Formats: sequence, C-alpha cells, structure tokens
Amino acid sequence: MSAPFDRSLTGELAVGEGQDWAVSPQAGDEERVVESALRPHSLHDFIGQPKVARQLALVLEGAKRRGRTPDHVLLSGPPGLGKTSLALIIGSELGTSVKITSGPAIERSGDLAAMLSNLAPGDVLFIDEIHRIARPAEELLYMAMEDFRVDVVVGKGPGATAIPLEINPFTLVGATTRAGLLTGPLRDRFGFVGQMEFYEPAELQQVLARSADLLGVELTAEGSAEIAGRSRGTPRIANRLLRRVRDYAEVEADGRVTREVAEAALALYDVDHLGLDRLDRAVLEALVVKFGGGPVGVATLAVAVGEEPHTVEEVCEPFLVRAGLLARTPRGRVATEAAWQHLGQPLPRGGVPLGRVTADPHVAGASSEALFDA
Ligand SMILES: Nc1ncnc2c1ncn2[C@@H]1O[C@H](COP(=O)(O)OP(=O)(O)OP(=O)(O)O)[C@@H](O)[C@H]1O
Ligand SMILES: [Mg+2]
Repeated sequence: MSAPFDRSLTGELAVGEGQDWAVSPQAGDEERVVESALRPHSLHDFIGQPKVARQLALVLEGAKRRGRTPDHVLLSGPPGLGKTSLALIIGSELGTSVKITSGPAIERSGDLAAMLSNLAPGDVLFIDEIHRIARPAEELLYMAMEDFRVDVVVGKGPGATAIPLEINPFTLVGATTRAGLLTGPLRDRFGFVGQMEFYEPAELQQVLARSADLLGVELTAEGSAEIAGRSRGTPRIANRLLRRVRDYAEVEADGRVTREVAEAALALYDVDHLGLDRLDRAVLEALVVKFGGGPVGVATLAVAVGEEPHTVEEVCEPFLVRAGLLARTPRGRVATEAAWQHLGQPLPRGGVPLGRVTADPHVAGASSEALFDA
C-alpha cells in the first residue's frame, strides 16, 4: 500500500478496483485521471444535489464570517455521485489546501497522527472510504476532531506514556459509500452530514452539457437526453457514456452527438434504454424466462448466467432493485411485472409472482413510460 500522502490534488486516489463495463458506478484507475478534468471546481459549477449543496454553502459561509473552521463534514452516498468532487470544492471555497487520504491507506494510528500534525491552520483533511479506517486510528481521530489534539504514545509496555500534542484547527471531510458501517461515535463527531442522492435526468443533461463543452464535443439536446436516460442517475456513468458516444460520433458520423448517433453507439455498447447492460439483462432474462419470475436463490441465478453469485448480487442487483425490476424476498429473487414489460415478454397467465412495483423516481429515465416502452 502506498504512503498515505503521496497523492497530489490533481491526481486521483488509487483506491478500488477498476471495472471495465460501461455502466459500472465505480471508476477504473485510468478513468480517474480523465475524470479529474471534468470535475466541477466550485459550488456554483456543481450541478444537482440542491439540498446538500445549499446546506453546505451555508455551513461554509457561516464559518468564513465567524473566522472559524467549519464543522466536520461527512458525505455519504453511492459511487460516482460527486463526493470527492464536493470534498475538493470545500477546500477551494474555503481557499485552503486539501490533504487527501483514505481509510484503507491509514494502516497505523501513527500515520494519522503525523498527517494531523502536519496540517496548516484551516486545512481540509479528506478521508475517502472513511468507514474502512482501522479502529486505533479512528479513536485517535475522535480527539483530533473534538479538541484539535492527539495523544502521541511514546515507549512501549507499562512504561509507555501518552504525550498530548496540539494540532492546528482543521476540517475533516469524510466520504463513504457505506454510512451504515460507520461507528456511532465517529458519525456523531461530524457537524454536517450530506446524503448524496441519485440525479434526475434533467440534472444529468446539465452535467453532460458541461462535460461536452470541456471535451469540445457538439452535443444536441436530444443526444444528451438519450445518454442521460441511460446513466442510472449517476454523473460518472453519464460522463463515461458521453466519451464512448463521442468516439462513435467521430468515427462513424460527423462528430456531432445527435439522438441517432447516441442510440446507435449505446446499442453497440449494449446499454439499453434503462441503462441495463448485457449482464443485467441476462440476469433478468434468466429470472423471467428460465425461472418463471422466481423466487429463485441468487446462487442458482448466478449459475444460469455463468457468473459468480457475488457479481450478480453486488453488481447487477442493486440497480435492478432500484429500477423496480427485481425484488429480494426471503424466499429468493423475484421479478416484477416491469421486468416482463422491459424484456418485451408476454405476462404469464396466472399473473406474476409480485404485482406491479412502482419504479424508483430517482432512477434516471425510470418514469413508467421509460420502463414499459423499451
Ligand atoms: N454535481 C456534479 N456536477 C458535475 N459533474 C459531476 C458532479 N458530480 C459528479 N460529477 C462528475 O462525476 C465524476 C465522479 O464524481 P466523484 O469522483 O466526485 O464521485 P464520488 O462520489 O467521489 O465516487 P466514489 O464513491 O467512487 O469515490 C467526476 O469526474 C465529476 O466530473
Ligand atoms: Mg470519490
């Protein structure tokens, strides 16, 4: 594991496994570099998340007026929704530097103590994946967050003594995709918790328009609507699909991203109208066609599509559930009526195992039309 402080601000965190498929919410290593060029740099540039952005603006402005460091900030939510972007924006709005690390990179509490004592007054310390921080480091963080002090333990065994060390006032920004894994005492020490939500298609269109500008791509409103609808409410996916569609537009068309170009490109990349990829559809199809809609266990479902149960469970199911196509029940996985509709399959005569489930309003393009007309 690399040293906790070796990543520059413009570089990216080398955390997490890179994944290759078009609609994964996680970023691959190379993608993180591309992404930093598309990051918004001020709250003004940051699209969507109206609640979090407004509340955060007030927290920052209030602190600036009082001449104090703002409360510690926790940003939680699924991958690709803008937590890292927002953490960096906090630093630029405050006009301070941001030191970046991540929970898994802090192996010993001594690493964290060194980092904390190197902070300049008012600095932002960004800890990504903060739910993965080791327990001793977490305990050290409690005192640092509360009293701007750390205890440095000198010596070993019975003779060891703790020497309190003052540190400069700082703002901790923590990001997590798994807020539920945070311990109570850690969560309680954040004065502001921002829960990031999935984006509406209209917001994703704004993200796409901004990215297209930065990339020098000509994107029509219909083209962007087509991409936004398939981006699963996630700016990272929207930006990724835009890059793929741009390649197609440049090679197969005149470079302009129109609806036709976007449709053809996304069909080529196997991303359907709802944003399902080939594996998502294979899972859904196995459930509906082979198993009559379920209930069926995830292990059986995984064998049917030739994948690991873990992949089906962690990669495909969250979105299928969110889109209202699949439900997890105590007896196994069950397809909803929307699943038959989406696959264009005739409904079974005796009805479906689960009745119609309303699509999640936060899923991009998951209005009932989008769900049923594909
Ligand atoms: N509100 C937004 N406006 C414009 N672009 C955004 C916004 N949110 C995210 N993006 C874009 O999406 C990409 C991913 O965002 P970011 O890295 O901040 O997500 P994250 O929540 O930190 O993801 P992870 O959990 O994987 O670390 C960035 O490159 C950024 O360009
Ligand atoms: Mg991030």
